Amino acid sequence: MKLVGVSGSLTPMSKTYVTLKEALTFAQNDNENVETDLLNLRDYEIQFCDGRDPAAYEGDTKKVIDLIEGADALLFGSPIYRGSLSGALKNVFDLIPNDSLRGKVVGFIATGGTYHHYLAIEHQLKPLAGYFKAHVVPGNVYAHNSHFENKQLVDEDIRQRLQELAISIVQLNERVQGGLVGANQPTIPRQSLAQT
Ligand SMILES: Cc1cc2nc3c(=O)[nH]c(=O)nc-3n(C[C@H](O)[C@H](O)[C@H](O)COP(=O)(O)O)c2cc1C
Repeated sequence: MKLVGVSGSLTPMSKTYVTLKEALTFAQNDNENVETDLLNLRDYEIQFCDGRDPAAYEGDTKKVIDLIEGADALLFGSPIYRGSLSGALKNVFDLIPNDSLRGKVVGFIATGGTYHHYLAIEHQLKPLAGYFKAHVVPGNVYAHNSHFENKQLVDEDIRQRLQELAISIVQLNERVQGGLVGANQPTIPRQSLAQT
């Protein structure tokens, strides 16, 4: 299976990136059938979503869409900005096709400067998985600035929880295999620029 991490921070030496990297390594070490890729949004020149058909984007924007569409399961990570996900990551959720996460297993991590915003994963990120009809691994990981030293994750409890999350994503993916999506709801159409 292909497990893709998506790091929603544009900061150099991002804590979100470091945290995702650890989680993907745990998944890979646990199961030799797991291939991982870590998509760092900082490395791509991504256009803002302008409402066009996702298939019409080119360059880095297309590469990012294709990487996400090609994943069997995904682990999304975001820094908390203003009590929510980063704008960079939200833009990716706006860009990808409506069915690109359908039936896939996804997990979430977030990093924040205050504990006050750990529920942003529940209220801001998980509803996006609902929109895309993805299976969410219930337990998530919220890492605080104090869990890092010199931009490296040093907290053993957080590392343990990342391992549990990563392994759960792989095991849930083995069970659902992109299926079990429930009722076939209508998708919300995009307003194509070509039609305006
Ligand atoms: C614009 C901005 C807004 C932020 N807003 C919040 C916030 O609302 N709550 C919080 O806990 N941390 C907030 N932070 C702190 C970051 O979430 C935190 O430092 C995070 O770990 C950065 O992740 P990164 O190193 O991957 O970029 C904010 C940081 C920035 C730059």
